[in-house]
Amino acid sequence: MENFDQIESDILNKIKNVSNRNSLDSVKTEIFGKKGIITELFKKIGSLDQSQRKEYASKLNDLKAKITEILKKQVVNLGQSEINNKLKNEKIDITLPGRTYFAGRIHPVSQVIDEVTSIFAEIGFSVEEGPDVESEYYNFSALNTPENHPARDMQDTFYLDRSKDLLLRTHTSPVQIRTMLKSKPPFKIIAPGRTYRCDSDQTHSPMFHQLEGLHIDKNINMGHLKGCLYYFVKKFFEVEKVKIRFRPSHFPFTEPSAEVDIGYKIQDGQIKIGEGYKWLEILGCGMVHPNVLINVKVNPKQYQGYAFGVGIDRLAMLKYGINDLRAFFESDIRWLEFYGFDPLDVPTNYRGLSR
Ligand code: PHE
Repeated sequence: MENFDQIESDILNKIKNVSNRNSLDSVKTEIFGKKGIITELFKKIGSLDQSQRKEYASKLNDLKAKITEILKKQVVNLGQSEINNKLKNEKIDITLPGRTYFAGRIHPVSQVIDEVTSIFAEIGFSVEEGPDVESEYYNFSALNTPENHPARDMQDTFYLDRSKDLLLRTHTSPVQIRTMLKSKPPFKIIAPGRTYRCDSDQTHSPMFHQLEGLHIDKNINMGHLKGCLYYFVKKFFEVEKVKIRFRPSHFPFTEPSAEVDIGYKIQDGQIKIGEGYKWLEILGCGMVHPNVLINVKVNPKQYQGYAFGVGIDRLAMLKYGINDLRAFFESDIRWLEFYGFDPLDVPTNYRGLSR
């Protein structure tokens, strides 16, 4: 009779030496295939002597069962170690520095324009725009500024081509004229944009930004102007209370005219808006002059209202603690990294200094 112990240990050796599931499959064929070791042993049963047959068959069946069991276990083991190997070889080194990408930053001026626009939108102002290159008519004459009025010098205008009557607008007020000429009252608009004057020092840049406001309707008075500006200053600087001072002033296109100061103090090296006994000028305003309304064919006996002009860069400097205006326009990427805003931040009017 066959030496079943020997056969068993040969087969077990084969199985043990297998290192992956593919070679295990070929070992399986070697054992149980058409001409496999065990298959051949079964074929022999018929030719055996009656006296041996029973013992032989029972030993062979035991061997078959044992090997089948061991093969099953080996499949599981190999699967396991394949996964472990994969995990080991494909391990991610989380200490490697990631691939950097450079996200742009929102410039403080753009940020403030967004904030201011949504603050005014909440109380019904829509946005208008006008060109940077203007004519004397829109920039001065229609705004009741006569030919020889000192304001034309005072504003230190960049004239592009006098013969063609082209200049860089010195304020956003020409947008008042353009807006009123193109439709009928009531008007309730703001107009943010670039403005230009020959001026350059720590607080003046030859190009800067203004925001014009205009509200014309029946029965609009100075109380509305004050209410609107209180609302705006409180929302923008995120303060509950604010001290505002209206100082009599003069603009050819408003009567009466005022300059508006807000109260502030310096605390622990930081500026606090709305409290204290110091004053900071932030805007010019007034009731729109009847001559301006006549120039745009609006009847001043029926309609009246207010206008104001705020320096946007100045608002940004105050709210975000930036002290040199010229840096705004030097395009220094380090400055923008520091003072700019994350474009993925949810925009809000109510954010404080987040640094
Ligand atoms: N345009 C004025 C300036 O630039 C500001 C202003 C606007 C004043 C509207 C009154 C009304 O200084």
